[in-house]
Amino acid sequence: MSHDEEISNNSGNRSFENVLQSYLSRRTVLKGGLATAAVTMTGFAPAALAKKNEDGDWFEPSGKGAKKNSRLMDFEPVPNAEGNGPMPAISRDYQYHVLIPWGDPLEPSGPEYKWPPSAADQAKQIGIGHDGMWFFPLKKGKHGRSNKEGMLAINHEFGGNQHVLGKPDPESLQDVRASQHAHGVSVVQIKEKKGKWSTVESERARRIHVNTPVTFSGPVAGHALLQTPNGNIPLGTVNNCANGYTPWGTYLTCEENFNGYFGASNLFGSWMFETAPDTQQRYGFSENGFGYGWHLFDRRFDLSDPDYRNEENRFGWIVEIDPMDATQTPVKRTALGRFKHEGIALAIGKGNRIVGYMGDDQRFDYIYKFVSAGDWKQMRKQGKSPLDEGKLYVARFNDDGSGDWLELTIDNPVLAARFADQAEVLTFARVAADLLGATPMDRPEWTTVAPDETVYCTLTNNSRRTVANAANPLAPNNDGHIIRWKDSDRHTGLTFEWNIFLIAQETHGTEDSYSDPDGLWADPDGRLFIQTDGGQKDGLNNQLLIADTRTGELRRLFTGVSGDEITGIALTPDRRTLFINTQHPGNGDPSVTNFPAPLDGVTVPRDCTFVITRKDGGIIGS
Ligand code: FEO
Ligand code: CA
Ligand code: CA
Repeated sequence: MSHDEEISNNSGNRSFENVLQSYLSRRTVLKGGLATAAVTMTGFAPAALAKKNEDGDWFEPSGKGAKKNSRLMDFEPVPNAEGNGPMPAISRDYQYHVLIPWGDPLEPSGPEYKWPPSAADQAKQIGIGHDGMWFFPLKKGKHGRSNKEGMLAINHEFGGNQHVLGKPDPESLQDVRASQHAHGVSVVQIKEKKGKWSTVESERARRIHVNTPVTFSGPVAGHALLQTPNGNIPLGTVNNCANGYTPWGTYLTCEENFNGYFGASNLFGSWMFETAPDTQQRYGFSENGFGYGWHLFDRRFDLSDPDYRNEENRFGWIVEIDPMDATQTPVKRTALGRFKHEGIALAIGKGNRIVGYMGDDQRFDYIYKFVSAGDWKQMRKQGKSPLDEGKLYVARFNDDGSGDWLELTIDNPVLAARFADQAEVLTFARVAADLLGATPMDRPEWTTVAPDETVYCTLTNNSRRTVANAANPLAPNNDGHIIRWKDSDRHTGLTFEWNIFLIAQETHGTEDSYSDPDGLWADPDGRLFIQTDGGQKDGLNNQLLIADTRTGELRRLFTGVSGDEITGIALTPDRRTLFINTQHPGNGDPSVTNFPAPLDGVTVPRDCTFVITRKDGGIIGS
């Protein structure tokens, strides 16, 4: 999405005096070519793939029957010249069709799409701003998982008032409600018939939006920081960006730019701006937010209303949703910290601990990881969530290719001097991370964990960087890069080794041209799915590329439509069907594109999902 333009990290972490020199010497190696650079920069090379974790195939798609480690990519890429129009383009070896555009009914019997939507209809229709998602297959047979039917859980990150309401500002509470209902998450049941997927009636289908009751769990639950003077119950989730999925079959949705939905109707009477400590300013609240105007009709989002003080602390979390049970109350897992959560990638680490890697997407913000207190299966047997008890760390990238995970704990005297308890540390995780000396990064977006335990993270860009360091080697960094690391002790250790996998700028002027990497997913064979969000070079629209993690080779599989972003990655267990999204096609402007409608210059474009298959039925990415 269009990100928060402000910089809120003024902590000045690290002195960068000598890092440029250290970067330049490493750069010489990199210039030797991407493939070489990928494996030689720091001496750390991802191990051979295919080692299974101790739980075997658990929750990842398996793609049984794939020719393992044969030539990884055999498809014809989309050439630069074809990837720039008002309609999508796809490799000639692949095909796509459109699924669940914004405004379609959640179930076939629901209210039909009409523009602009009423608040009541929108609560029963697919939201806008399609982003992170995951496919949860229905069971088939005793142990099998269906490749033809399942629940798709999908985030609805954002939709501007002009696109959703047909006007720049809301004029009533009903307008605000329509906008709020367009945000959140959809859980839909989808089924394949003769090669085409569509929604079906389902007891499991539901919309979760800004006014859906939610609950809190973990160290901050019940804390005064989450109580308002008004005593209103916790409601809703917003700016749901990327996602994660657990081995116990739940969906994780991540709240990113939540600050932009709050505003202040009376700036000078606002406790937020007059008396709030810099703990709040670090999250970037402002008088008008991103211009949604919700605060003008819904007091919950008015920062100058003393009755709703602390409402803003209820957002910026990761929320767990059971895609198979529409009666479950979504749970905000506070042990994972409060920041502008892009997404979370889970792995099973040493001792069967659950480990989650997370990016905080703002210029000069950080990369975090969570490690559960114990064996995830044992914890669940004891009735505990593995996401409620554990340690939260933030990353420091050293210039020599090593790294350290710094624990956000009240037991650290530096944090104890600033915060009253662990709940405060977690609620103001950004401030705690500043104090620990974490490395400010170039906008951390998605993370993903490869089967060899290497973790990849997209650093989408940072036009404001003026001083480079080894992990963020371009100043300014206009086009982004992908960093990767490997932790000690199978994801659970306090140290790691890292290097840079790809630098986007190096592809410009070639047929592999891309910029602004964002969505990311490592498949079991050694491919990396890379999606982009930003101004592409060489005349291209945003796109989906596949990379070979062993060689750095890139191929373009798909390009979207003018003005959109390509995001969201979900696959069936056999990896022969891929779901991805176009977000804000034409930036909502019908004069740019009318997709998915045929071009007519008038019809409002709609965010939607693409179902992608290989024409020969093969593994996606091959
Ligand atoms: Fe919601 Fe950072 O993308
Ligand atoms: Ca993103
Ligand atoms: Ca982005």
